[in-house]
Amino acid sequence: MILPEGYELREYIDFIDLNRQDVIAARSAWVVIRPNIDDVLKYFYSSQIMKQTTKQFPRFDIPSLIDKQIAHWDQLFSGGLDEEYVSRVKRIGSAHRRVDISLPYYIISYGLFLNEFERILRFHHKNQKDTLDLMSGIRKFILLDLAIACSGDRAQS
Ligand code: HEM
Repeated sequence: MILPEGYELREYIDFIDLNRQDVIAARSAWVVIRPNIDDVLKYFYSSQIMKQTTKQFPRFDIPSLIDKQIAHWDQLFSGGLDEEYVSRVKRIGSAHRRVDISLPYYIISYGLFLNEFERILRFHHKNQKDTLDLMSGIRKFILLDLAIACSGDRAQS
């Protein structure tokens, strides 16, 4: 990950201490989580918050949003952390602001995914230390993603 000094992504990566071990951990965790992601997303879209949203947007297309989210998580854990990644995540953040998804809903959703991913890892790895190591990597990626997605909010405050 060679990113210029003073670049937003570099600042966040340094701050949260996302290192090579975390990249390896996040990728290994994703191999376990990936086959279960459909179920996690179905659970997410059947939650009370998402049901309310469905009413708010009559053309809310859940199968298409599930596909887009799968592509998003795939790219997050397997792709590179570079300028293209930043633009893509900012675009996703703007899409949510455009349709007025509240920041608290957005933040708590990331919490839901964190918990679901941990539940899957715990199920597969009976050794608690393995789960903790994998979660350390996953957590840093997820919070980094959330920070980038929300970073456009600053312009509006
Ligand atoms: C972990 C949190 C979330 C992730 C990773 C996520 C991911 C995505 C992605 C990848 C898209 C497609 C954007 C595009 O087409 O460019 C999208 C669209 C959308 N999401 Fe989310 N989302 C999250 C949370 C939420 C929440 C909490 C809501 C509602 C309460 C929501 C409602 C929507 C809506 C309405 C769209 C369609 C926006 C449009 O077509 O302009 N999302 N989301």
